[in-house]
Amino acid sequence: MCGIVGYVGPKEVVPVILEGLRRLEYRGYDSAGIAVGCKGQGKLSVRRAPGKLKNMEEVLRERPISGCYGIGHTRWATHGRPTEENAHPHRDCTGSIVVVHNGIVENYLELKRELIAQGHTFVTETDTEVIAHLIEQVTADAQNTDKTLSLEAAVRKAVKRLTGAFALGVLSAREPDTIIAARQGPPVVIGRGEGESFIASDVPGILHHTRNIVFLNDGDMARLTPEGVTFTDFDGQPITRKVQHITWDPIQAEKGGYKHFMLKEIWEQPRAIRDTTLGRISLDSGQVFLAEMGLASEDLATASSINIAACGTSWHAALAGKYMIERLARIPVDVDYASEYRYRDPIADPTALGLLITQSGETADTLAAQREMMALGSKTVAICNVVGAMVTRDAHGTIYTHAGPEIGVASTKAFTSQITALFLFALHLAQVRGKLTSAESLHLCEELSRIPAKMIDMLKAVSAQTERLARDFSNARDFLYLGRGIHFPMALEGALKLKEISYIHAEGYPAGEMKHGPNALIDETLPVVVLATQDPSDAGSRLRYEKTLSNIQEVTARSGRVIAIAVEDQEEIGNLVEHVISIPRAPELLLPLLEIVPLQLLAYHIAVRRGCDVDQPRNLAKSVTVE
Ligand code: F6R
Repeated sequence: MCGIVGYVGPKEVVPVILEGLRRLEYRGYDSAGIAVGCKGQGKLSVRRAPGKLKNMEEVLRERPISGCYGIGHTRWATHGRPTEENAHPHRDCTGSIVVVHNGIVENYLELKRELIAQGHTFVTETDTEVIAHLIEQVTADAQNTDKTLSLEAAVRKAVKRLTGAFALGVLSAREPDTIIAARQGPPVVIGRGEGESFIASDVPGILHHTRNIVFLNDGDMARLTPEGVTFTDFDGQPITRKVQHITWDPIQAEKGGYKHFMLKEIWEQPRAIRDTTLGRISLDSGQVFLAEMGLASEDLATASSINIAACGTSWHAALAGKYMIERLARIPVDVDYASEYRYRDPIADPTALGLLITQSGETADTLAAQREMMALGSKTVAICNVVGAMVTRDAHGTIYTHAGPEIGVASTKAFTSQITALFLFALHLAQVRGKLTSAESLHLCEELSRIPAKMIDMLKAVSAQTERLARDFSNARDFLYLGRGIHFPMALEGALKLKEISYIHAEGYPAGEMKHGPNALIDETLPVVVLATQDPSDAGSRLRYEKTLSNIQEVTARSGRVIAIAVEDQEEIGNLVEHVISIPRAPELLLPLLEIVPLQLLAYHIAVRRGCDVDQPRNLAKSVTVE
């Protein structure tokens, strides 16, 4: 998730772009860059800097540039560290084409090899640089047959070779006063003003200049000049796109029209899961590709055990990971609170693999656990959302989650992206260790690829219901969350979401443990949220579900008020409890991705009703860098 802003028109372009990027910094802030051109100059000037936008502003003060068409970018790295070289815009060999990109080009390594063979030299580790070279190559190929390709035609030819997700802004020194935009996945908005045109990743980037906005659809391209904007599809057919007049205020616009970042991030989860999966599974063979782990297949095949350390929400993901890894790959997994790990005289050795799960990659407790694992001789792998973060520097390899920056302090999309990465990790280990047939692997990959669409449908279906439930339950003093098997960590996570943003006391418990003590808490005032989901085609899952139904009866018999999360068409549960939230079916190990979403929404709506500061709850920080 990155931010793009482009402008062509009579104004000096640099301040217009800088202002837009500032308003899009919530989309990424690990590096920034800008490219501008001026009619008659025949060249493009580029400035870039690592870190926040202010670093690039400093570079511009020292080495100013000016122009009347240009594009800028704030980056949230996915491929390549957040350095100046890897910052956008990226250029081809001649320097006449520049590209800014949001998304992931899945087949970039294959294209890069092809372009290197054709004589191109690459200077960055990014997937984006490939696009600039590809545009240059298709232009040169046309020239070799005495044809001239416009920039628009060259971009069209290039995007047809890309697989993955991309929002692009492209400039050429040879075609001044023109910006080409293309969308396949990540958002692109186009703005129209008097004698000027704008492009951005999101409305706030240009809202201070124009309220007349066109939202590109997937497969759309746009050609922007001061005179106007023309729209075509990837085959070059002209299309019409409606101009919408935006009435949001700028703050609301940053949140994409949502009331809070947390709600926006809950709705971004289908995209985050899709991006985390992109390029890592084959829907032909069922193979999982995780070369980025930096470990030889032999290390994975012979690892005697796995030790996972993490904190908070990431610890809940770790616990779910244990169920996935043990079930699919049959390797014993220990999960530790990172803050406890090095104080408990842990047992690890070079045959044990260490896994650190941390969204920020900067959590002091998790880094300390990593050091301890390494001191004991283990190799470590990180699952992290921030490219180049501390934890990734010492790890042998990192599986990046591609959630994009998470602004709300309560983690949502980073969590489900971690679960996705852990599922991929478990599947990969199982494949390396020969624990799955190809048919089983393929089935699980297909099911994973279906989750984003299922989640979109579910979000639409459960939003209003969770809001209604929040009205009924927002005055409760305590909540209990119950789950069994892999659903138990989701109960813990549901309870944590509620406590951290609504300040209601909540506890997560294994459903079967209730009778060993906590049943004493149950009365008619206690809401009990039960994760009663199952995969009816899986005997083990059915058995766990039946046991959970018995636990529900123990609660209702004591007048507890149950809200059950269940997969669709489970009539018996509707007869047992007051409220049922239905979610789509999926294999049991993937159900956590779906079942956590209503719990996030329930916590969110309760917190809003109680007037809490949802995005910045009291006493909490996004990144905890002290032990
Ligand atoms: C809760 C939350 C925290 C973090 C924890 C670890 O919503 O976000 O519990 O999960 O502080 O943070 P990371 O994953 O950055 O190590």
